Amino acid sequence: MSDLVRLTKDDGIAIITINNPPVNALSPGVPEGIAEVVEQINKDESVRAAVLIGGGRTFVAGADIKEFGKLTSGKSSGTMDFPVVLLQIENSRKPVVMAIHGTAFGGGMELAMAGHYRVAAPGAQVGQPEVKLGLIPGAAGTQRLPRLAGITKALEMCAEGNPVSAQDALKFGIVDRLIEGDLLAGAVAFARETAGKPAPKTRERNEKLGTPEQIAPLFAAARETARKKQRNLIAPLAAIDAVEDATRLPFAEGCAAERERFVRCLFSDQSKALIHVFFGEREVAKIPDVPKETSVIPVNAVAVVGSGTMGGGIAMVLANAGLPVLLKEADQPALDRGLANIRKNYANSVSRGRFTQQFVDERLKLIQPTLSYDGFPAVDMVIEAVFEGMAPKKEVFAELDRVCKPGAILASNTSTLNIDEIASATSRPEFVIGTHFFSPANVMRLLEIVRGKKTSKEVIATCMQLSKKLRKVGVLVGNCRGFAGNRMFHPYIREATFLAEEGAGVEAVDGALYNFGMAMGPLAELGRYGQKTGAGWYKYDENRRATPDPEVAEMVRKWAAEAGIPQRRISPEEIVDRCIYALVNEGARILEEGIALRAVDLDIIYLNGYGFPAYRGGPMWYADTVGLKKVYDRVAEFHQQHGELWQPAPLLKQFIEQGKLFADFNREQSATA
Ligand code: NAI
Repeated sequence: MSDLVRLTKDDGIAIITINNPPVNALSPGVPEGIAEVVEQINKDESVRAAVLIGGGRTFVAGADIKEFGKLTSGKSSGTMDFPVVLLQIENSRKPVVMAIHGTAFGGGMELAMAGHYRVAAPGAQVGQPEVKLGLIPGAAGTQRLPRLAGITKALEMCAEGNPVSAQDALKFGIVDRLIEGDLLAGAVAFARETAGKPAPKTRERNEKLGTPEQIAPLFAAARETARKKQRNLIAPLAAIDAVEDATRLPFAEGCAAERERFVRCLFSDQSKALIHVFFGEREVAKIPDVPKETSVIPVNAVAVVGSGTMGGGIAMVLANAGLPVLLKEADQPALDRGLANIRKNYANSVSRGRFTQQFVDERLKLIQPTLSYDGFPAVDMVIEAVFEGMAPKKEVFAELDRVCKPGAILASNTSTLNIDEIASATSRPEFVIGTHFFSPANVMRLLEIVRGKKTSKEVIATCMQLSKKLRKVGVLVGNCRGFAGNRMFHPYIREATFLAEEGAGVEAVDGALYNFGMAMGPLAELGRYGQKTGAGWYKYDENRRATPDPEVAEMVRKWAAEAGIPQRRISPEEIVDRCIYALVNEGARILEEGIALRAVDLDIIYLNGYGFPAYRGGPMWYADTVGLKKVYDRVAEFHQQHGELWQPAPLLKQFIEQGKLFADFNREQSATA
């Protein structure tokens, strides 16, 4: 028997323990091990029932995601057919009780549903999160779940992928009992109750599947929600189709159809991109010359300078993570405005059900407003968010250098300015770093961490670690104008504007990029005054809804005529190529200059800070999937048509000559560092 699955006995009850730390993933060997012990207990007359439990901190958290990549690249090590193992469990003559603690996600959930009963610790969670990787459950999850939980819940779980608490799982019939205290003891006691009784097979429980008339509107509603909330994604719709199969096909046929849909999703560009993102979010935490063992500076109290748009949001982020925040402003009216904004934002979160009033009250107590630097010697870190300008920044940093204790981290939220020059206003540039939050800071996940020439490794390690505590994705970037994200954004917006001037039409530019998957069109936030004042490239009503503005169209026409820009029809494809390849070409320069460590870092920046669609994997991954030769040819064409701004990045040219991908650049960099 493999070490991954162990069998012990407790007075007639077999105890099957999965031991594949850290999360008992269904790696090769685990399904085989389960199959072996199930066969064994069915032959063993002394066994009356069985409990299957996860060793360590969780049940089975899911499939081994690396295996998906191996399957699509043909490098699969060929594990046993998991659905067959599940049928074998379900067919067991001895009832099998699944004992769930931690998480039963994905394949773990499918395993749990193949048992005859499920018991759970109160803190456990269950779910089918495959859709978040562009997949659907592939081992009968879409067929068994509706039979346990009913159509509505199964649709929600398979199409949206969110976890369900043990309490809800009990309410919806996914688990049969919650067990306070010792889970194994409780599960064994439960198994004794079931021993000798007929064991219900999930696949034969059809009572929750409903009649065609009852369920048709549920599927229609689920499809409508998916099209709206998971725009352009194929996996949610595939999951809905698969659950529908459960209601109209015999179990075995439903499983076969699910398998086909699963494989189609697995080989889709969307799933490959989402899996790239999953690993990418982990990859960006690795900095070759700042190893894991680098010591970090304890950060227990923070000060924020400036309580404007960004400073206020940053103070909330810190308070939400439980850190006391000293919030310094220049004068009382500005401080009052800043605090009023913070209160308004928190009140919105309460009304939307994101936070409780009690949580908010506690957070507000952590934010201490001030007009002086008096409390600053006590803090471990300062984040400066005053007006964007070298003079005010330098003035603040000189003051911070004077008042802060030795070893305190001095961070700037600047979005464009030179960190080294800011650092030069202090006597301790090794403690100066950029922490570039995105607006609104309390919502956007991205945190660009800007490394100055002299920034110490400890300070970098501390900020990377802090980003996790703040629930942000920290990405390390180098010091240059606009750093990585805004430096790439500039040519993107430039092209959007040029396209409008060449006759594409403002709505067509935004529409093409919105349809490509961007959270919003590039011109929807820009222009004359922006949404805040009711006029930009569009007119905005009091709810900030945009309507086309004929005045803008006229202005653009006039301007183009004056500048002698010929007007022409421009296809959505050209709009997308021009804007997205502008990102890619600048991204390639950034990589070449070492401003970002890996292409995936730029992808993660774009997904979390700029509304780039995750299912396209980020701009650099997208370029790889299009084919770098094709991207290069198009860039070269734009270069000919539009001049110097489109000079192809040397790295792009080099990569096509060497037949490389941006993804290869990731590996080489990480390997050679
Ligand atoms: P803002 O104008 O809303 O706020 C700046 C605040 O700093 C004002 O309330 C001002 O009274 C205060 N202030 C100025 N000097 C001060 C001093 N010596 N001591 C204390 N408070 C002082 O500006 P915003 O938008 O919050 O920008 C702040 C920084 O964040 C800038 O460097 C900006 O480039 C950067 N940033 C802005 C983003 C945005 O979307 N607004 C996004 C990312 C970064």
